[in-house]
Amino acid sequence: MYSTTVMDHFKNPRNVGIIPAANGIGTIGDPDCGDYVRIYIRVRANRVCEVGFEICGCPASIATTSVLTEMAIGKTLDEAVAITEADVVNALAGLPEAKIHCSNLGTAALRQAVVDYLQRCKHNKEVKP
Ligand code: FES
Repeated sequence: MYSTTVMDHFKNPRNVGIIPAANGIGTIGDPDCGDYVRIYIRVRANRVCEVGFEICGCPASIATTSVLTEMAIGKTLDEAVAITEADVVNALAGLPEAKIHCSNLGTAALRQAVVDYLQRCKHNKEVKP
């Protein structure tokens, strides 16, 4: 059974959609189930000021990515990449054991988006950290 918080984020996912001015993008797929997540971030002054996502996934992956976006907004880059799968599961008041792995997608995509941002900074002088 899913918690009320999981159901809320599944039915009303936060921060869904592309961010046209994103300066970091991360995409992760789970080869076992075929689900994937793409996370868009907008970073300003070393902080994640906007997060959006597109997803093709199960209810748990939608809920975990939704709550992750709320957790990441306002964080520094170091704080954002430090958000763990366990943090996400705790923020949702738990997940069924068989669905714990679904929390990996969003966190991995967020970390990849931060790496993408840092690489853009390295190669594009217009994007400042
Ligand atoms: Fe694939 Fe949940 S079953 S992410």
